[in-house]
Amino acid sequence: MKAIVVVIDENNGIGKNGGLLCHLPNDLKHFKQITTGHTIIMGRKTYESLPKGALPNRINIVITSADKEKFPGCIVVRSVEEALSVSEDHEKVFIIGGGELYRSTFHLADTLYLTLIHNTFEDADTFFPEIDYNDWQLIDEEKYEEDERHIYDYSFKTYVKRDK
Ligand SMILES: NC(=O)c1ccc[n+]([C@@H]2O[C@H](COP(=O)([O-])OP(=O)(O)OC[C@H]3O[C@@H](n4cnc5c(N)ncnc54)[C@H](OP(=O)(O)O)[C@@H]3O)[C@@H](O)[C@H]2O)c1
Repeated sequence: MKAIVVVIDENNGIGKNGGLLCHLPNDLKHFKQITTGHTIIMGRKTYESLPKGALPNRINIVITSADKEKFPGCIVVRSVEEALSVSEDHEKVFIIGGGELYRSTFHLADTLYLTLIHNTFEDADTFFPEIDYNDWQLIDEEKYEEDERHIYDYSFKTYVKRDK
């Protein structure tokens, strides 16, 4: 399985000023549940946005042209092709962002874990590519209302790529 994991707003916004659009604790839990024990691939800027560096209990692969020593606990590669070759025989591989990496890998994914925030952030500066939902079959959906820790409604949606 090669999956994309992403949180988007209603305008496909994914980030602002090098960080996420908002804090959604349940989404962090969901992300951890999906990815723990597996392999994650990320772009250099997404790595830099992680507060404590490499994520525990996962194989972290970072794509960058920067010095390898700057990414402790990670496998550092120079291209998407190298990332895929390193993880070739891993059962589940999750592409976790950001925008640049999503743009160059979206067409390779067979599964999409999408968290939709039911809001549009006017200050978003990084976006997920356009999604043609005809290409994707929704296999799971959970909707949550805003509460004291989540200031927007949000939905966890899982899609698998339709056979052409
Ligand atoms: N909402 C979400 O689910 C989510 C998830 C992840 C990140 N984000 C947000 O997205 C933003 C970061 O995204 P971004 O687009 O600015 O950066 P990014 O994709 O995280 O990182 C870009 C860097 O990674 C390397 N890279 C990425 N794709 C590559 C490719 N195909 N080939 C070679 N190198 C590649 C390059 O590193 P070098 O310059 O070092 O060569 C490039 O400058 C942040 O705001 C972050 O919080 C949101």
